Amino acid sequence: MPEASEAKVKLATVNASPASARDLLRIVIVGHVDHGKSTLVGRMFHDTGSLPDGKYESIKAMCERRGVPFEWAFLMDALQAERDQGITIDTSQIWFKTDARDYTIIDAPGHKEFLKNMITGAAQSDAALLIIDAAEGVREQSRRHGYLLHLLGIRQVAVAVNKMDLIGYEKEQFDLIEQEYRDYLTSIGVTPTFVIPVSAREGDNIVKESTAMAWYKGPTVVKALDSFLPKATAVDRPLRFPVQDVYKFDQRRIIAGRIEEGSLAVGDELVFSPSNKTARVQSIEAWSTIPGKEQPTEAFAGESIGITLDEQIFVERGELASHVEHAPIETDVFRARIFWLGHEPMVKGKSYRIKLGTMEAPVTVQSIESIIDTSDLSNTSSHQVERNQVAEIVLRSRRMLALDEFEKAPKSGRFVLIDKYDIAGGGIISMEGYANQRDLITSRSTNITRVAHGVTTEARAFKNGHKGGVLWFTGLSGAGKSTVAVALEKKLFEKGYNVFVLDGDNVRHGLNANLSFSPEDRAENIRRVGEVAALFARAGMIAITSFISPYRSDRDRARQASDGGDFHEIFVKADVATCEARDPKGLYKKARSGEIKDFTGISAPYEEPDSAELTIDTSALSVDESVETLVNYVEMKFKV
Ligand code: ADX
Repeated sequence: MPEASEAKVKLATVNASPASARDLLRIVIVGHVDHGKSTLVGRMFHDTGSLPDGKYESIKAMCERRGVPFEWAFLMDALQAERDQGITIDTSQIWFKTDARDYTIIDAPGHKEFLKNMITGAAQSDAALLIIDAAEGVREQSRRHGYLLHLLGIRQVAVAVNKMDLIGYEKEQFDLIEQEYRDYLTSIGVTPTFVIPVSAREGDNIVKESTAMAWYKGPTVVKALDSFLPKATAVDRPLRFPVQDVYKFDQRRIIAGRIEEGSLAVGDELVFSPSNKTARVQSIEAWSTIPGKEQPTEAFAGESIGITLDEQIFVERGELASHVEHAPIETDVFRARIFWLGHEPMVKGKSYRIKLGTMEAPVTVQSIESIIDTSDLSNTSSHQVERNQVAEIVLRSRRMLALDEFEKAPKSGRFVLIDKYDIAGGGIISMEGYANQRDLITSRSTNITRVAHGVTTEARAFKNGHKGGVLWFTGLSGAGKSTVAVALEKKLFEKGYNVFVLDGDNVRHGLNANLSFSPEDRAENIRRVGEVAALFARAGMIAITSFISPYRSDRDRARQASDGGDFHEIFVKADVATCEARDPKGLYKKARSGEIKDFTGISAPYEEPDSAELTIDTSALSVDESVETLVNYVEMKFKV
């Protein structure tokens, strides 16, 4: 056995599970074989003293006998061969041990079974080690492997730039590769924690710090892995208690279910989502309570329990109980990465039943963003997802759903889709680009009484010669909303209308100066403007609002703010290519270069209206024609 000097890492009994009292970190190793994945793993095992006794020597001897040079990858091949014969080792599940913790390495060739397991939750990993080839630079393969991490929502990522020996350990070339790959990963929402120059063959920066690359000041691969944090265990995460059933015993109502994550105690205040009712836990009724034994006062993840509440609130199966401070997300739209198992393909626009914990509801496939081929991880677009394909999709439901991001709460961040009566797919949830709508649900203040106006709506309309209302313009930046809006304002004013434009760029200078372009802030932007426009309308004016307002839910809420008044959604339509060619403010250019992030149409979603009252296609109509169409529309709808 060779010296295992820096051997903080030691292989425990290869097939044994690590002691549960210690931290376990699951790392997925992603990379192309030609980029030196097996070499790196072989080298890592060897340098950390983790190989089974005599393995290295026997492979070395075999190479000498056959007259071939020794390769580290042979070690992995040998271990792999043993696994295939079912002898000693399972290379896809290898346990490591360091002073700090235990490790499992999961090999990720990008294969169907692997992706299926990761997406349906059968396997999980806390962090990833991505291997790319310094001599080749960033190629399509490395991009695909990077995309895999994005797909799985893994955030702790170390990148090993291998084969530095082949480029003379040069800093300049490494810097270029690092920059290019960081930019790429950032563009798909992955931030690498470390980018490490290594030579797996020579053992530079794997376990031993490289003397050939003294310019590199960061950690070695093993040190980098040691610095990653394991996911919190189920008990340590926020409470998630899906309601399975509600039983009525004598006067008591017992809410039964299994605690999926976290813990609860008698006296805790719980909120049930999405109904958002709250009450305190009065008692915990464990099924196993032995007569005469005291009732438990606490319950933990994994336990099936019943609870009673201090108030008789109406709660039903499907709701998700949590503590008030760490409530799940509420939304009617979210992004998902799915593995499709259905005999019939998943089709855009079709409805399925989603099963989220104990809750079932209909959802519609709003869009299929991309399809990933499970054999080579290539990425295509299509209107349907075939059996055994992985896809990124957007799902929408008619009512609010309580859910979590998979990354934060694996149990409530995962779902299955049902087509007719069969399970047709499994998926994990990401809210990337979408806001938590929990805070936007207007909770009306208490102790407030509306003051009745002395002037009626009819009297105002009679005086003005027209009704008040809202013309809600929505569309991409550069679609022509503001241009058409101000031209329309002028025309209507000349015709005697009381009219005023509320424009995104203007309102963001004042009322909404404190809001950014994050999904949450955009939602708040639209919520406020929806309320202001409704006030203008009530005052008898025609409010023309000119906001991208990219989310359908936000526009629907703006419509609700008008409370049955005249609200007209006007889709100012032009596709991204047209808007980008116009680029009146030079913003698309900046968005493409990464200077502006979350830019609608480029790096943030735009959800087209599906039931706008009017569509103005600005790629086909001139400004004058658009204004004319709108003036006719207003005369028809608003004149009294
Ligand atoms: S909205 O999405 O919240 O409805 P809003 O209409 O108020 O957007 O503002 C859009 C205007 O802000 C655009 O016309 C553009 O001039 C500017 N802008 C700056 N950053 C962004 C961005 N990341 N995405 C979209 N527009 C942006």
